[in-house]
Amino acid sequence: MKPSAPPQTYRVKSFGCQMNVYDGERMGELLAERGIMPAPEGEDADLVILNTCHIREKAAEKVYSDIGRLVFAGKQAGKQPLIAVAGCVAQAEGEEIMQRAPAVSIVVGPQAYHRLPEMLDKAVRGKRATDTDMPAIAKFDALPARAKRGPSAFLTVQEGCDKFCTYCVVPYTRGAEISRPFSHLVAEAHKLVEAGAKEIMLLGQNVNAWAGEDDKGRRTGLGGLIRTLAQIDGLARIRYTTSHPNDMDDDLIAAHGEVEKLMPYLHLPVQAGSDRILKAMNRQHTAESYLRVIQRFRAVRPDIALSGDFIVGFPGETEGEFEDTLSIVDEVRYAACFSFKYSPRPGTPAASMDGQIAPQVMDERLKRLQARLAHHQYAFNQSSIGKRCEVLVERIGRHPGQWLGKSPWLQSVHFQGDHAIGDLVEVTLAEAGPNSLKGLVRNGATLLA
Ligand code: SAH
Ligand code: SF4
Ligand code: F3S
Repeated sequence: MKPSAPPQTYRVKSFGCQMNVYDGERMGELLAERGIMPAPEGEDADLVILNTCHIREKAAEKVYSDIGRLVFAGKQAGKQPLIAVAGCVAQAEGEEIMQRAPAVSIVVGPQAYHRLPEMLDKAVRGKRATDTDMPAIAKFDALPARAKRGPSAFLTVQEGCDKFCTYCVVPYTRGAEISRPFSHLVAEAHKLVEAGAKEIMLLGQNVNAWAGEDDKGRRTGLGGLIRTLAQIDGLARIRYTTSHPNDMDDDLIAAHGEVEKLMPYLHLPVQAGSDRILKAMNRQHTAESYLRVIQRFRAVRPDIALSGDFIVGFPGETEGEFEDTLSIVDEVRYAACFSFKYSPRPGTPAASMDGQIAPQVMDERLKRLQARLAHHQYAFNQSSIGKRCEVLVERIGRHPGQWLGKSPWLQSVHFQGDHAIGDLVEVTLAEAGPNSLKGLVRNGATLLA
């Protein structure tokens, strides 16, 4: 590697889950502290960080095509950017990246990116740098204060996973479960609100496994943390994702009936409807125990919107077992969902199981599942017609005078009027499409369409 001038501008491209988005923001804040600023829209950056995802094969392979594209663009422009690979592919395949992609200067894992500035100094001197250590809490302690963001902000409260579902790389790429300390989270939440956040989304691979000690030294779970955050003036909404059915406790469920700022939405992946498949997946719950958890949420918050994740074509999945997944979808009637074809991941137990399912079978199952999920999503949107609710304005719409925001149930709502990003606008949900709703704003005596 040749030495290069210190970068003045950067761009972070984040793939995968919201935790990567959060990490991407934090890397940006670290660089900004060093005077390295985001590259203006449409301009090449001196430093490009590919913040990668390893969850499925397609996501993981993307990093190599992206590197190729950057090198090509650099040749055309006569100037190569410094390339850093961060995120879960960096953690899982750091060495391979360094071997396969000589254009990459930095490989930094998701728990080590607080050391990015020193790694950058090394890269500028022409030396390649790799860091895939896992000192999770040290990372958070070493990060600068939060910068101004949009009205909805992410806050990582928990990282890692001890569940070891047999298909999943997360326990390997993100390490063991750790909870960030209560006081750090309260302080960061205050900072986010001071920076303009109206909504905070608490993040974790198993967010409801978060545990800590509150300011009085009492053991508390996510419910207790949410109750404390709800006391922050200026914070209007709290959400959290992603939960595991087995980590739900009474207090978190109760909070849904008691804390007004906690939005009526729960993302609770089930993955499959067949107990035999759930067992082979090592999910450690059954379809029935999952449904019982859902019932408890519905008992305290009848209007709660549910979403989930599903995998079709897990090794050995029969047609009948796949139909069990369709049954659970019909039973829960999800408001939104994410569904995936099973992707064998290197090093995971499921990758070497017998009965790998043919791609055409997976395609066909995914199509049927998605049709069913879309049906329920549309039905949920239609059942919202006539409701009055607040919408948090997130951006300007496509049409003049149009705004886009989120309902309490995380639906996209568009509406007209004189508003600003970050406003909470009261609307009546008037029309429903498959993916969004139209809201009417009461403005004096008239309803603006
Ligand atoms: N911790 C969360 C989500 C982790 S990853 C949970 O337990 O639910 C997000 C989703 O990706 C998972 O819920 C699962 O549906 C999907 N996923 C994970 N590994 C996968 C694989 N090997 N193939 C296909 N989908 C996968
Ligand atoms: Fe992966 Fe399972 Fe952990 Fe979720 S709970 S991150 S699916 S191992
Ligand atoms: Fe992907 Fe890592 Fe998130 S594998 S889904 S970026 S935890």
